[in-house]
Amino acid sequence: MPSDRPLEVAIEGLRRLEYRGYDSAGVALVTPGGGLATAKKAGKLANLVEELDLHPLPAATAAIGHTRWATHGGPTDVNAHPHVAGRLAVIHNGIVENFAALKAGLVAQGVEFASETDTEVAAQLISRAYDETKDLTTAMAQVARTLHGTFTLLAVHADAPDVVVGARHDSPLVVGIGDGENFLGSDVSAFIAHTRSALELGQDQVVTITPTSVEVTDFDGAPAQARAYTVDWDAAAAEKGGFRSFMDKEIHDQPHAVADTLLGRTDAQGRLVLDEVRIDESVLRSVDKIVVIACGTAAYAGQVAKYAIEHWCRVPVEVELAHEFRYRDPVVNERTLVVAVSQSGETMDTLMAVRHAREQGAKVLAIVNTHGSTIPREADAVLYTHAGPEIAVASTKAFLAQITAAYLLGLYLAQLRGNMFADEVTAILDELRAMPDKIQQVLDRAGRVREIARWMADTQSVLFLGRHVGFPVAMEGALKLKELAYIHAEGFAAGELKHGPIALIEPGQPVFVIVPSPRGRDSLHSKVVSNIQEIRARGARTLVIAEDGDEAVRPFADEVFYVPKSPTLLAPLLAVVPLQVFACELATAKGLDVDQPRNLAKSVTVE
Ligand code: AGP
Repeated sequence: MPSDRPLEVAIEGLRRLEYRGYDSAGVALVTPGGGLATAKKAGKLANLVEELDLHPLPAATAAIGHTRWATHGGPTDVNAHPHVAGRLAVIHNGIVENFAALKAGLVAQGVEFASETDTEVAAQLISRAYDETKDLTTAMAQVARTLHGTFTLLAVHADAPDVVVGARHDSPLVVGIGDGENFLGSDVSAFIAHTRSALELGQDQVVTITPTSVEVTDFDGAPAQARAYTVDWDAAAAEKGGFRSFMDKEIHDQPHAVADTLLGRTDAQGRLVLDEVRIDESVLRSVDKIVVIACGTAAYAGQVAKYAIEHWCRVPVEVELAHEFRYRDPVVNERTLVVAVSQSGETMDTLMAVRHAREQGAKVLAIVNTHGSTIPREADAVLYTHAGPEIAVASTKAFLAQITAAYLLGLYLAQLRGNMFADEVTAILDELRAMPDKIQQVLDRAGRVREIARWMADTQSVLFLGRHVGFPVAMEGALKLKELAYIHAEGFAAGELKHGPIALIEPGQPVFVIVPSPRGRDSLHSKVVSNIQEIRARGARTLVIAEDGDEAVRPFADEVFYVPKSPTLLAPLLAVVPLQVFACELATAKGLDVDQPRNLAKSVTVE
């Protein structure tokens, strides 16, 4: 029977999921007599609720709802989900990598689009498939087979009043089994208030729910099995996907954050294309200096980028703390490319530095995670990371996504300026695409790191040493420990040790050492091994991060945390992960709030 229940459940589910994306929200209802009612608003969920109070929707038999974290198209009413095509409405999580080609095909057939989103393309495709098949499940499966990228799609059609159909590929979708009603959600927190009986859909599956049935098939329409389970989390834990904290969840989100940031970056010929980088190629070719401006963790991402971009592009790269940049009268002009790195896109220090750089005539490219934020609006171009919303104040997955985006920028410039052949760029892109699995391997091995962290919960000081790209990793590892565990932690360039900091070494002093690959510059590896010997000889407790197979470090290490082999310049994506886990675990063992550490804010919007 039609009622307000579907809308109430949808809105409540959105409230529980709002932390996952909050730049717009919307709902679609199937109403009696073959109607479709929708409402959607930019901004917080409260804006949608206010809209619904002002313009109530009719009783319904089915509903879908969505809070958006913008990937394609800014956070506007028009770009908000659901997207309607004919008598069908669709909501979507993920990135359809081949949406541009699919959209071009539809436009050529006369289809007009209201939004800039990849989701509206999917809606049009499913609507047209439904018109042919008159079956929503078949239509969804038919279209899902043609999409590349990551997606969870839900659709309702006015002709099917009691039906919601979903499909997933590399993006989560779970089913809630209720009593006379059934639910779909990107995680169980969407419906945990109504049922703890759930089905987890597998890769490339389609699910069709009615109030009394749940049917699962593969993309070819053959019956398929979904994993049944009972949710044993409470509602609060469910928002964190079962992890103890958003920090822990986001550390484990990092393989997806890197993979999603890499999605959709090459054309049909495999050439790197950064379509958001709307700076004239001739201007990029004339650039004779790059200045990275950022704060905190974002600045350490910039430091890593420096090594890679200078190596690939042979252009000098300076990395400046944004709050220092404009006060030192920097030498910046129209041949300077300024790269502003920021997760929030709202950091006032970085924004003011962007304004100063543009006043000096420089072109500014922003590497930002939050769509529609201020810094991209004031930059000449933007390269978005796709880490998803980062809730924990201390940055983790955004850091890896920033480094990944900076690598993409470096490769793009090297390709554009002729410093690297296309096959060389492709080879590094292939190595980058292998990194999410390697990051997952590091996470899978992190049990010993956690054990050591708990054992060291009372430590008062930890030092971090790194060389070359390991140096910014050491700095970031120290920052994580400061931010989360409130203890003295300091990162040094390993070569700097004997110029003073070695005086800090005393028996039992814990020191993390990030060791470069022995397959890179041999001298670099042997020098860092010497550094380990020097501090070990003075009683330090050496905690070494090294690549698989590096036996040279063992005689001088109290602990070795091995990471998979990777190219020297990409190694930070792996080496930092044990340091993140260590800081998070040690702070948790101290009973501290790792999501909202004292004195800190997620976005520092004051200078
Ligand atoms: C990182 O763990 C910190 N929360 C902080 O250093 C942060 O990286 C810095 O404030 C910059 O923020 P942004 O990336 O949003 O500009």
